[in-house]
Amino acid sequence: MRSSNQKTVLVTGGAGFLGSHLCDRLLRDGHKVVSLDNFHTGSRLNHLHHASRPDLEVIEADVADPLPYLRVDEIYHLACPASPPHYQESPIRTLKTNLLGAINVLNLSLRSGARVLLASTSEVYGDPLVHPQPEDYFGNVNSFGARACYDEGKRAAEALFHAYAAEKGADIRIARIFNTYGPRMQPDDGRVVSNFVVEALRDQPITIYGDGSQTRSFCYVDDLVEGFVRLMASNVRTPINLGNPGEFSMTKLAAMVVAMTGSHSSVSFMPLPADDPRRRRPDISRAESLLDWRPAVSLEAGLGPTIAYFREVVSGQSPGDRFLPLRSAI
Ligand SMILES: NC(=O)c1ccc[n+]([C@@H]2O[C@H](COP(=O)([O-])OP(=O)(O)OC[C@H]3O[C@@H](n4cnc5c(N)ncnc54)[C@H](O)[C@@H]3O)[C@@H](O)[C@H]2O)c1
Repeated sequence: MRSSNQKTVLVTGGAGFLGSHLCDRLLRDGHKVVSLDNFHTGSRLNHLHHASRPDLEVIEADVADPLPYLRVDEIYHLACPASPPHYQESPIRTLKTNLLGAINVLNLSLRSGARVLLASTSEVYGDPLVHPQPEDYFGNVNSFGARACYDEGKRAAEALFHAYAAEKGADIRIARIFNTYGPRMQPDDGRVVSNFVVEALRDQPITIYGDGSQTRSFCYVDDLVEGFVRLMASNVRTPINLGNPGEFSMTKLAAMVVAMTGSHSSVSFMPLPADDPRRRRPDISRAESLLDWRPAVSLEAGLGPTIAYFREVVSGQSPGDRFLPLRSAI
């Protein structure tokens, strides 16, 4: 029987890394979940542990195509490849996913009367000239570079969300996500945590681009999902940074990964790719004051289950679908 608090929630990109953890959380909270995905970078394996659940529906569809009408209460719009090798494979496809996807999802939200949350990104700040990055910083983005299809695609998606709210009354939420990691990342998708852990587990040299002094902040997936849920439930219609403000250089991260995996890997240095940001750290004071949200999982605590997941993936034992969150829902 449907309880009064039970909602029907659409997650676009639900078979991806973040989307599948979000689906797990929403199911645990008692909601009905529709996961819509074209399986470009996501996998049905990420839903395997829920295969027989009647409260999870998986739809194969592309958000850049006209979407089927769905009666839903909330939409989390995550569909978009997130790692540079994937989104640079076809910049046009990435732009279509971001632009047409946002328009189709916003129209669906208006038709169904659903609140809609956009998974935006810290990439909207580009290579930032302000540090740490608050939401009112407009960014330093190259509209003509290799990352433009993603960075400008997300900026245009934010602008579309804002325009639909102002002109048509769409009920929007916008999360600017900073680097997030955890089980179910793909081993080969070119993100720094997965790269380092997989190289360490294989005792291969750990590849650092640049001199290793560039920094990133790393948010564990459970913390991010908690931020999503709080933002969706809030009245905050302006963009909100979600990320972990702890800042680590690439050399420090590599050393932690080597120590925690017990690896024999050395470190090898390669030239820095174009437009790679030097520093990245979220200013999360808005999330703290408006959502009462802050990350609870340290990098060391989050690397534990992440390494355990990749250990099984690298040894060919598991698609990594049985990992439970480090903390239960607050
Ligand atoms: N993980 C991070 O650190 C991070 C940081 C900033 C922003 N984000 C954003 O969060 C969202 C999810 O990222 P992720 O890390 O889970 O990446 P992911 O690649 O694992 O997941 C993206 C999902 O979207 C699906 N998808 C891609 N294009 C689609 C399309 N046209 N139609 C339908 N489905 C499509 C993929 O198959 C995949 O399942 C993305 O929008 C990404 O930009 C993630």
